[in-house]
Order: sequence, then structure tokens, then C-alpha cells
Amino acid sequence: MGHRSGAVSYDRRVWVKDPAWENSRWASLSYRAVDEFEYVYIFWKPGVTKFDRRRLTAEEWKDWGSRGVWAFPSVRTNVEHDSMYPVQLPYRVIRLLTDPGDIVLDPFMGSGTTAVAASQCGRKFIGIDREKASVELAKKRIAKERHQTCFTIHET
Ligand SMILES: C[S@@+](CC[C@H](N)C(=O)[O-])C[C@H]1O[C@@H](n2cnc3c(N)ncnc32)[C@H](O)[C@@H]1O
Repeated sequence: MGHRSGAVSYDRRVWVKDPAWENSRWASLSYRAVDEFEYVYIFWKPGVTKFDRRRLTAEEWKDWGSRGVWAFPSVRTNVEHDSMYPVQLPYRVIRLLTDPGDIVLDPFMGSGTTAVAASQCGRKFIGIDREKASVELAKKRIAKERHQTCFTIHET
């Protein structure tokens, strides 16, 4: 499947999380399923795509690199930001698809989870969010990841 930008749909993963408490409340009152999973879609951009199995260890390839279903818990509470996702989610995507030193862009950064994961993976990052509170929260979380090589945050 192609996109007007020229990006081509290449793969998708399913992240199985635990049922969200918010949704569990109404699940018993309707036919709707409890919100237990999300999709991760991967698109290739035009040009040569690099494939490098050495980005992951053999164990990681076996455990999740080559697996269509990823299972790990969601964030226990969303007190700091109302839609935080676990670091493990961007961490796996970044490890799988980028090289050390690459730049990871998250234009809807929220609490900065992608930036934290990028730091942990030795990648640079650019984060954007329109909410000042989100940018401040992201900055705080990123500051804890002192080993990042560089970061840039834009408020739109
Ligand atoms: C679903 S949250 C992202 C949560 C993030 N993944 C995390 O773990 O904290 C989406 C974020 O996008 C921001 N946002 C929405 N529309 C935007 C826009 N047009 N430009 C910049 N940021 C935007 C919101 O302020 C919100 O913080």
C-alpha cells in the first residue's frame, strides 16, 4: 500500500497491553471490547532501505525483533500526562529501525517517552509538542537521561 508522500506500508506489529482501567468501567455495559492492544505501523520512505540484523542481539531477534505481537504492560498511571506510553514501545521501534547516532523525530512528544527511549538507545532526537506543560515535563524526564548525545525541543 502506497501513500501520497511516497512512503510504502511495510509492516505492522501489535502491542498487547493490559486492559486500561478507564475502559474496563464501561466494557461490561456494552458489546465493545476492552482496549487491550494497539497497532504499530511501519512505512518505508522512498530510496534504499538498510536492513541490519546486527542492530539486535540474537536473543532480541527471537524474543521480539521478528515477532508480530509484542506484550508488555502499559503505564500504570497517567498522573503526569494523560496519554503516556511505556518507554519499551519506542525503545523497540528505535532499536529495530535506526542506528546509533540517528535522529528520531516525534512531532507529538507528550511527556517525552520517545526522547527518553532514544537517549537510552544512543540516538539523537527532536521532540515537538504544542502544550507548554508537556514540553516542560518532557524536559524534566529527558534531564534524567544524562547520557544522551544531544537534544532539541520545539514548542509549536
Ligand atoms: C497521545 S499524546 C503523546 C503521548 C506520548 N507518546 C507520551 O508517551 O507521553 C499526543 C501529544 O500530541 C500533542 N499534540 C497534539 N496536536 C499537536 C499539534 N498539532 N502540534 C504539536 N503537538 C500536538 C498533544 O499536546 C499531546 O501531548
